[in-house]
Amino acid sequence: MIIAIDGPAGSGKSTVAKLLAEKLGFAYLDTGAMYRAVAWRALELGLDLSVDLDADPTLIAIATNEPIRFAYKEGEALPSEVYIADKDVTREIRFPETDLAVSPVSAALGVRKALIAQQQRIGALQNTVMEGRDIGTVVFPDAELKIFLTASPEVRADRRFKQNIERFGENAPLSRDEILADIVRRDKYDSERAHSPLVPAADALTLDTSDMSIEEVVNWIANEAS
Ligand code: DC
Repeated sequence: MIIAIDGPAGSGKSTVAKLLAEKLGFAYLDTGAMYRAVAWRALELGLDLSVDLDADPTLIAIATNEPIRFAYKEGEALPSEVYIADKDVTREIRFPETDLAVSPVSAALGVRKALIAQQQRIGALQNTVMEGRDIGTVVFPDAELKIFLTASPEVRADRRFKQNIERFGENAPLSRDEILADIVRRDKYDSERAHSPLVPAADALTLDTSDMSIEEVVNWIANEAS
């Protein structure tokens, strides 16, 4: 069984998808981390990201030949470390440089084709909670349960800010207002791009989580899954 959790940045997708996977004993796949890993690698190789990247051979080679690997930290139930080209990029993929690079990289058709193929292979192996932007529309259009999470941009910025403090401590790289501006920018970019734009699948259940606790959201979805 595939449970597709789609929605914009900061809608609570990651937290909810992980807790849901633990609760149901499903595998968990963060497809955003895959796009981020390719974007990080593109930056490392010094690619020019301001040009049309749809058929860029270097990007396609990265997405096709450098499979992204998820690893478990000791004692953790779900994988949380991300590797590409044998390098641990768990922290780097959350840096602001990667935030900026991931929009053009994830809009590139060649990248999407390669990563979607990887995601379909991974999801075919076992029951999986898969989170992203296009899981219910493109990656697994036949998923048994499709959830589209939303929340107001302000609530999403607050959540991302808190998450950054937890991740990076008091030296968190961005202020709450910078995060809000980035969220608004990315929403627009992700929903207007030509390939796999961010839209709910026709048969997705849309849930506005602005005024819900994480536990309420997880229980709501678990209930739909049973
Ligand atoms: O969920 P996230 O913020 O980590 O995702 C990073 C970027 O990757 C986001 O700007 C959109 C893109 N993405 C995508 O295009 N398709 C997905 N299935 C997942 C993420």
